[in-house]
Amino acid sequence: MLFPFHLQIRDEETGYNKNLFCIPKHYEEDLERVFIPHGLILDRTERLARDIMQDMGSHHIVALCVLKGGYKFFADLLDRIKALNQNGDKSVPITVDFVRIKSYCNDSPTEEISIVGEELSTLSGKDIIETGRTMKALLSKLKDNEPKMVKVVSLLIKRTHRSPGYRPDYIGFEIPDKFVVGYALDYNEYFRDLNVSTYIIYKCINYR
Ligand code: HPA
Ligand code: MG
Repeated sequence: MLFPFHLQIRDEETGYNKNLFCIPKHYEEDLERVFIPHGLILDRTERLARDIMQDMGSHHIVALCVLKGGYKFFADLLDRIKALNQNGDKSVPITVDFVRIKSYCNDSPTEEISIVGEELSTLSGKDIIETGRTMKALLSKLKDNEPKMVKVVSLLIKRTHRSPGYRPDYIGFEIPDKFVVGYALDYNEYFRDLNVSTYIIYKCINYR
């Protein structure tokens, strides 16, 4: 593909009334609107799987999930890729791996990252590509292992003035600069257990 296609959600988009969907009782009060319904996420994911497999040729894929925010998308995307492998004319072997990223915000203009396997309690991961700095740092670490090819797939990117212009190779949705939760994206670790990607209002003091 020459440029990444993605589904663009406009700044004016207000999403859907949350009462039209099944929201867990324990989150009802804290959520404002449903921004991207689960079904739309899955439909878009299915198409991303097709695009990826078309571009990938016959290369063995090492699928690397960036935890925690990526786990739902990763699992659903791999399910779709496996379905293509199962039913298509060609298939490629896939192995999986996982990283958790800790981003340090210090005085330095560049963001230092460390890839952590243990030390789970102190982590503050980045769940969405916003500025792209964390992803660039991860990519430069991956290069140490001399992979043949690295492609980045992101379900969401945000339109933000803070972005220095990083674009993943595959993008599900480009969204306005709003804080969204659900579908494994959290606010202080809550809302990962929510299928729809809703957006949240900051008056929700319960979860601070
Ligand atoms: N939601 C959840 N986690 C995030 C977001 C967001 O909008 N942006 C960066 N990390
Ligand atoms: Mg988070």
